[in-house]
Amino acid sequence: KTIAVVFGGQSSEHEISCISVATVLRQIDESKYNILIIGITKEGRWLKVDSIEAVEDGSWREGTVGAILSPDASMKGVLFLENGHATLEKVDVVFPVLHGLWGEDGTIQGVLELAGIPYVGCGVLASAVSMDKLYTKIIVDSIGVAQAAYVPVLRRELKDMNTVVARVESRFSYPVFVKPSCAGSSKGVSKATDRESLIHALEVAAAEDVKILVEEMIVGRELECAIFNSGETEASGIGEILAAADFYDYDAKYNNAESRTVINPELPEGKMDEIREAAKAIFQAVDGCGLARVDFFLEKDTNRVIFNEINTLPGFTAISMYPMLWEARGRKKPELVEALIQSAYT
Ligand code: DAL
Ligand code: MG
Repeated sequence: KTIAVVFGGQSSEHEISCISVATVLRQIDESKYNILIIGITKEGRWLKVDSIEAVEDGSWREGTVGAILSPDASMKGVLFLENGHATLEKVDVVFPVLHGLWGEDGTIQGVLELAGIPYVGCGVLASAVSMDKLYTKIIVDSIGVAQAAYVPVLRRELKDMNTVVARVESRFSYPVFVKPSCAGSSKGVSKATDRESLIHALEVAAAEDVKILVEEMIVGRELECAIFNSGETEASGIGEILAAADFYDYDAKYNNAESRTVINPELPEGKMDEIREAAKAIFQAVDGCGLARVDFFLEKDTNRVIFNEINTLPGFTAISMYPMLWEARGRKKPELVEALIQSAYT
């Protein structure tokens, strides 16, 4: 069987995908699969990549052989373009190791649907809803799981900044969190502590997306749960984030070695199961398939479980919670990756 592993992409999480993919590639059984590695540059060029080493040292970006995932369902494959010549390689399954826009949001999933090629992970609807924090909120509301209160803001409304600020201030006291609706790895997310920083935060978020959410700040522990689904939906144990910064921003996630993760931390009675059940319910409510990581807060003063966000293609780096949570349940990375590939066929 031939597996195409696609990574990189045009989103602001391009770099994370390049790290995740190396971990995924190392788990795939080469005696079982013919592996095609396809890298998407930040500019949106699709390239054939020769080796994991080329992924890791970044030299894949200088590649010259183009790759086109054909939406023509009779081809079921990838066209490689070299010196004006096209060669078709049939593909049995695609593993999109992409984070953020154009990878985790249903767009590439749509192309794969047209092409008739099975792929790992969520379909178009679940990917699109889960990428968009505003729509995720609407779905999660409908199943009665608690989440942070929010004020939606559109980029064009920022022309009248005073009205937007007044709307936020009439609803919340500072600090508040400002997030682009569609983004990942905390890109464009800031904590605003006063009017001046709110205005700045809105502008930063607007650079990532046309829709913005201003949320009340939840004070509590950050807990995450991994979902694996191949017909049946399974929830892992719980992981806790101990961020080495004011909040778990991009830098704290990937560049600050002081940030720690704890697998199966001590939790108040009943909270582990409550989170696992909520994670499964949310995954099902967004019509999830294959995998996701669902993130929560355990509110400090009330002990309430509060949904934060769902990631349908969670980070797969060596320090990422998704593979670690499954390892803690006895599913080692190669087994996990194989199970994910198999789940593409169900
Ligand atoms: N969006 C990043 C990759 C994550 O959720 O792990
Ligand atoms: Mg995310």
